[in-house]
Amino acid sequence: MNNYTSTILVTGGAGFIGSHVVRLFVNKYPAYRIVNMDALTYAGNLENLKDIESKPNYVFEKGDITDEARVEELFRQYQFTAVIHLAAESHVDRSIMDPLAFVKTNVMGTVVLLNAARQHWKGQEQGKLFYHVSTDEVYGTLGETGLFTEETPYDPHSPYSASKAASDHFVMAWHDTYGLPVVMSNCSNNYGSHHFPEKLIPLMINNIKNNKPLPVYGKGENVRDWLFVEDHARAIDTIFHKGRLGQSYNVGGFNEWKNIDIVHLLCNIMDKKLSRPAGTSAKLIKFVTDRPGHDLRYAIDATKLNKELGWSPSLQFEEGLERTVDWYLNNEQWINDITSGSYQRYYEQQYAR
Ligand code: NAD
Ligand code: TYD
Repeated sequence: MNNYTSTILVTGGAGFIGSHVVRLFVNKYPAYRIVNMDALTYAGNLENLKDIESKPNYVFEKGDITDEARVEELFRQYQFTAVIHLAAESHVDRSIMDPLAFVKTNVMGTVVLLNAARQHWKGQEQGKLFYHVSTDEVYGTLGETGLFTEETPYDPHSPYSASKAASDHFVMAWHDTYGLPVVMSNCSNNYGSHHFPEKLIPLMINNIKNNKPLPVYGKGENVRDWLFVEDHARAIDTIFHKGRLGQSYNVGGFNEWKNIDIVHLLCNIMDKKLSRPAGTSAKLIKFVTDRPGHDLRYAIDATKLNKELGWSPSLQFEEGLERTVDWYLNNEQWINDITSGSYQRYYEQQYAR
């Protein structure tokens, strides 16, 4: 026995969003014990959690969610009362290169966790919760107008979004078939500190800093709806505590931007921060071959989350972006450590075309 009111398994807590969720929960809820299970793939980095790693209510357990025996062992050892499931392969371009890795982790891994939760909570479902963190990419693409609501039919186009869509269906199937207490959220693109520099914003920041070409896919006209990662972590906190079982909640920033406009905004911010003459960094922009199956536009209608549970984004994009740039400029070692290893090999392969 222990004195914690809840023991929560967070999967993927060493990644970008997971580390912000772990930090929020560990600091805000000392009565909860947070067990972070992460396989530490190329995207997982324990440096992300340095500031909270010695807190008494935090535990790290290395492990792969597709490893049934390991998951079972942890469920037995900790008697989890809840799961917040973030572990995933998360990058669309990598999913195009190696789709099977996405099926294994995102689909099989999710089912392994669902099975373990079902078996351990059987007959004692009251007060338990399996929270599945998903993406707006399951809805496919929008045209020039309209927004994704929770009723928008699933229509994924990339191996990444197809694997996340499949995992979402499995989560809801475990609710409907076995009565597993589940809740789910589908969020738009996140940005902020500790974001792996293969994704648009940190990749551009890193390349601007190093005077490397800024690879913009196609004409740069694709639109994404950007949310500050700490606002996403707050949304997860809200949905975890107040969300209705069996429901999904869309999370978004009401903040649509064309890729090319973001790249220009970053160039302007960085010219100022690096004391470069205005217009210097924008000369690095290079239009490259488009991503196959590239979704044109994502935009989230987060009204349900706002009206039902009272969440709304807290930060303006320009301010969030500036804070993000500052974090990257002040954490050179973090980025150097990450870009020196396998990321470098991936980068060469991806941008060789
Ligand atoms: P990330 O790639 O930064 O981190 C993923 C983490 O999962 C890493 O720490 C990695 O080591 C771990 N992991 C991968 N495979 C694993 C396995 N088999 N077993 C255990 N751990 C494993 O991803 P992220 O951007 O933080 O995304 C987290 C979640 O949020 C994902 O489920 C993603 O689909 C979802 N999401 C992301 C965004 C976004 O903009 N990044 C938006 C909406 C939803
Ligand atoms: P990304 O950060 O990979 O997120 P997602 O594909 O999940 O939305 O990409 C965001 C947008 O930026 C997407 O439209 C693809 C585009 N993009 C580029 O133009 N160049 C790049 O080097 C990358 C990584 C992305």
